Amino acid sequence: MTVVVVGNPKPMSRTRAAAELIATRLTGSAPTAVIDVVDLGAGLLGWGDPAVAAAKKTVIEADSLVVASPTFKATYTGLLKLFLDQFGQGELGGIPTFPVMLGGAYNHALAPELTLRPVLVEIGASCPAPSLYLIDSEFETSPDLDNWLEIAKKFAPTVVAP
Ligand SMILES: Cc1cc2nc3c(=O)[nH]c(=O)nc-3n(C[C@H](O)[C@H](O)[C@H](O)COP(=O)(O)O)c2cc1C
Repeated sequence: MTVVVVGNPKPMSRTRAAAELIATRLTGSAPTAVIDVVDLGAGLLGWGDPAVAAAKKTVIEADSLVVASPTFKATYTGLLKLFLDQFGQGELGGIPTFPVMLGGAYNHALAPELTLRPVLVEIGASCPAPSLYLIDSEFETSPDLDNWLEIAKKFAPTVVAP
């Protein structure tokens, strides 16, 4: 099962739509769960909130993860960091994880690889493919997505029909 994590302060964002599309094209099946981190609200500001704990459990039980953020000031959002800070070092236990960021221009195209990936690795994610950066206005049609999928599919679990 693939779980999508979206760290945009705006709910139901383009970043969320992109992450769901990517998970679907990557595995051949829609994600089993989508965590729109903004829905967790103020519980993210402390430790032990039940809704945050449930979201963490969903993430830890995933077979693969797509973790997505818009680019804010050349990096991923503070909102996503609040959620990732809830995990201990190595807690993800090697789950194949695909970092994705949307941005308004190509200036920060290395941001997912240089800023998001290291944090995911610190909490135990295995990031087997290059991180993906897409321009917000063209995420559905971008050749960057097709090119990336050719590489990333080699590392994604495919969903086998029963
Ligand atoms: C506060 C803020 C900071 C931003 N900083 C950047 C940036 O540094 N680089 C960039 O390419 N886009 C930047 N953007 C544009 C967003 O990353 C881009 O529009 C993204 O698609 C927004 O996600 P959404 O469409 O899911 O809401 C910024 C947007 C906001 C609101």
